Amino acid sequence: MKLLLSVLKLTYTPAACTSRRRCLSSGSSSSSLLRRQDETLVVGSSRELVQRLGSQVEVRTGFITEKEEGALMREVEPGLKKKRYEFDHWDDAIHGYRETERERWGAACEEILSRVRSVAFPEGSPLLGPVHVLDLDKTGYIKPHIDSVKFCGSTIAGLCLLSDSIMRLVKEDATNEWLDLLLPRYSLYILRDQARYNFTHEILKDEESVFNGQKVPRLRRISIICRNLPG
Ligand code: OGA
Ligand code: MN
Repeated sequence: MKLLLSVLKLTYTPAACTSRRRCLSSGSSSSSLLRRQDETLVVGSSRELVQRLGSQVEVRTGFITEKEEGALMREVEPGLKKKRYEFDHWDDAIHGYRETERERWGAACEEILSRVRSVAFPEGSPLLGPVHVLDLDKTGYIKPHIDSVKFCGSTIAGLCLLSDSIMRLVKEDATNEWLDLLLPRYSLYILRDQARYNFTHEILKDEESVFNGQKVPRLRRISIICRNLPG
């Protein structure tokens, strides 16, 4: 049995305090703030790994509000709707998805993205121009992979829309070393350096979506991903 250990990585912004989040926390009758302080977002194969990799993995809950999610959806949904979910390419890293890229955004969305850039990337770090929009069907999932080192740099930052999900990181050359990240709806995650280069990442399918012993229903999920350029 794998040893489960946890670390806290939280930011205290009001939007994180949704009922879904409260459903996931267990038993306590304390205030929602206290519950949120108790909330575990990262578990892993050992305390040492959680501590070591913890600095290269960030989950910021409530990074966007419900209203901001709406603004992003209004901007990406028309383009996505013109495409069909892809289910057939078994060699693809992603199953049950459609995707698009967007270089120019409306003012409300641009404000959100500049907030993402300012927390995720060092100032002046050259970024990949187009932002990647990935729409996973309820039955869709992302298989373990490492993003191309030719096309993207040391940092990957993703906004999570419409559904909670679990991202699993597994060390490429030692698969007994792993971390699971709980990515709540409205959160931003950031993978840097070793977490990005030496670990595969994947988004679990609904049937496997269990975090720290607790089922995390995976619905349709959209991620909006910013990347920097290789150095
Ligand atoms: C990818 C990827 C993760 C996500 O597109 O390479 O890993 O959050 N996406 O959708
Ligand atoms: Mn990836």
